[in-house]
Amino acid sequence: MVAVRQIPLARPYLDGREEELVLDVLRSGNLALGPMMRRFEEAFADVAGTRHAVACSSGTAGLHACMAQLGIGPGDEVITSSFSFIASANVVLFQRATPVFAEMDERTFNLDPDAVEAAITPRTRAIIPVHIFGYPCEIGRIGEIARRHGVPVVEDACEALGASIEGRQVGTFGHPSVWGFYPNKQVTTGEGGMITTDNPDVERELRSIVNQGRSDNGDWLVHQRLGFNFRMDEMSAAVGLAQLEKLEYMLGERTRVAERYSRLLASVPGVQVPFEGPHHRSWFIYYVRLDDEVDRAAVIEGMSARGIATRPYLPAIHLQPEYRKLGMREGMLPVTERVARSTLALPFFIGLEDEDVEYVCTALREVIEAAA
Ligand SMILES: Cc1ncc(COP(=O)(O)O)c(C=O)c1O
Repeated sequence: MVAVRQIPLARPYLDGREEELVLDVLRSGNLALGPMMRRFEEAFADVAGTRHAVACSSGTAGLHACMAQLGIGPGDEVITSSFSFIASANVVLFQRATPVFAEMDERTFNLDPDAVEAAITPRTRAIIPVHIFGYPCEIGRIGEIARRHGVPVVEDACEALGASIEGRQVGTFGHPSVWGFYPNKQVTTGEGGMITTDNPDVERELRSIVNQGRSDNGDWLVHQRLGFNFRMDEMSAAVGLAQLEKLEYMLGERTRVAERYSRLLASVPGVQVPFEGPHHRSWFIYYVRLDDEVDRAAVIEGMSARGIATRPYLPAIHLQPEYRKLGMREGMLPVTERVARSTLALPFFIGLEDEDVEYVCTALREVIEAAA
């Protein structure tokens, strides 16, 4: 079959404002550690509702910096989710510590708080809950469990800018929280991330860790602790600032596209649309869950033949080759494994026209029928 159109999985939403601010940076000659990063940090702290924001080079870098700030090291265990992007577990391995995967809640795909509590041992040094696909996890209950056991929470809010629980933005519950700005995210900087916290001591230490461990008193050549170069450059910060100016519009458009998908797919046999619950989801991707009897690989192939990009998203982290080397195997997390076998990300971005959404939904219906 000849593809009539090509529909990618994701695409950033950019307009003249990003160009304008990036040009300002280029013309200023100040390309790193300049005023744009500070402006972006301040604007982001405002949006997130936290006292401090520390820009960094990626969500991965932000999470890694948080592990370093907590002093996570060999022999320590960090509880997290296997149904996440691999970075949220890799940051534990970077510190030579052990990621411990707790089982998920099958409706939300987020960590099950009871499973988190059951996974706590005397070696547990942190919990990294993730708001997967922009739906808030039970961060209140996880926080309460963590407090009871004296364990800090580093909240992975990389996919959840705009998501909230009873009006409170997620990413304000962790101590600290981390955000990601890869181009498929709600807000992009190209590559980039942010760490937010209300604690000024944690902020100072993190600011040093992402900047080569430099001295807290501003002495450029004193490296007070082991740090990294996890800095965000000025061009990325300029893009981020321009993105924040239209955040409300962008979140609204993402919701509009997602709702259209859910309406059209509600009646398609073999497909379950995303969970809707009491918390407010910020749409990071649009995914469906395919019934067990639907052959996902055949669906992906069929969609691709129609010019539609889809992805088997997300694979379980504990079954990735690097984690199998640590002895992890099928059967460890039956719910996670079942979900990871059946979820599929569909094209999702601002500018996806109504007729494109219809085209994708019709194609999905036909491809599933053909694959049955
Ligand atoms: C849940 C989650 N954690 C961490 C990351 C890492 O962010 P980055 O790609 O900016 O390093 C991502 C982004 O892909 C993510 O989705």
